[in-house]
Amino acid sequence: MSQSATKVRLEDLDIKPFLITKLKMAGIESVFDLAISIPHQLVDVACGGTLTETDEHVALELVTKAKKALVDSGLLFKDFSTAQEILERRKNLLKCSTGCSKLDSFLKGGIETQAITEIAGEFGSGKSQICYTLCVTANNPLDRNGLGGNVIFIDTENTFRAERIFQIAEHKGIREPDEILRKIYVCKIFNTSHLEVIIQNLGKSIEEYKAKLVMVDSIIALHRAEFTGRGTLAERQQRLNIILHKLSRLAEVHNIAVVVTNQVQSQPDDFSAGRDGLRATGGNVMGHATTYRILLRKAGKTRIAIMVDSPYHMYDQTRFSITEAGLQDVEEYKDTGKEW
Ligand SMILES: Nc1ncnc2c1ncn2[C@@H]1O[C@H](COP(=O)(O)OP(=O)(O)O)[C@@H](O)[C@H]1O
Ligand SMILES: [Mg+2]
Repeated sequence: MSQSATKVRLEDLDIKPFLITKLKMAGIESVFDLAISIPHQLVDVACGGTLTETDEHVALELVTKAKKALVDSGLLFKDFSTAQEILERRKNLLKCSTGCSKLDSFLKGGIETQAITEIAGEFGSGKSQICYTLCVTANNPLDRNGLGGNVIFIDTENTFRAERIFQIAEHKGIREPDEILRKIYVCKIFNTSHLEVIIQNLGKSIEEYKAKLVMVDSIIALHRAEFTGRGTLAERQQRLNIILHKLSRLAEVHNIAVVVTNQVQSQPDDFSAGRDGLRATGGNVMGHATTYRILLRKAGKTRIAIMVDSPYHMYDQTRFSITEAGLQDVEEYKDTGKEW
């Protein structure tokens, strides 16, 4: 869907040229960008923040025109589809192997496109290692359980290590690990406003870099650092919500996989938290916006992945280890229940 999406241009729509100029100045370059815009936010960015009733009406009209053009050209789905059509559409989604067969079967094939997969866990639990391994596996062609595309890696914690990806690729027997590194587009983020701008323009970057996988490591670290104190919580959550919803729409319209990592916080009195009292941060906003929620725990030398929430996976868990080659299966183990 995404490749032909670039062929529909804003100029092909019945929109006044001065509005097209304004949209482009606001970073809305394609009909796709416009179709997934939220009208009142469009007024803020494209009409200079002077929100009048007329502007909002115009913005709604623009978004509706963009959506109609995409539906008419078969690039976007109409408002109502039958369940049968939706099942057919799900056959188009792609799954990216994690390089670890048990983790893949736990995920029913791998990390999915058209969805946001959240990976939460304490420091050192393997969140970034999963991302690095996916950087290598996503590059594999579709018939080898990859996504056959490039990767966008958004690093908010300043922990991205290209040499680690090189090592994983080398240990997987890839002859030219440099080739893989050239297909990973990394963006280091300095503050939440920077993250917002990058996500706002991500549709364009996905097309420009031909990305099939977008990772944000981590989605919440900067928000937690910048919005301290109870008084700022509502604003933090609202801003996080906007980012997550944009990611969710991008995942769907571009048929790409989105992986976000999340931190955990201690909730000793919360019965729904794990045995160690840890649960993912970000509250309901994270819970509602993400499609699959995976919690990682350290367990001696291995790691446990728990499927905490999913529209179609059972509550389940599996074990993997982190080696020089990235994620690996572990030998059969006996769960004594004492390790974590
Ligand atoms: N080259 C490597 N070989 C084997 N294990 C590694 C290697 N690099 C990192 N690890 C493992 O990964 C852990 C760090 O995981 P990481 O994903 O970076 O944590 P986080 O969840 O904080 O992002 C380390 O504690 C170590 O166990
Ligand atoms: Mg990390």
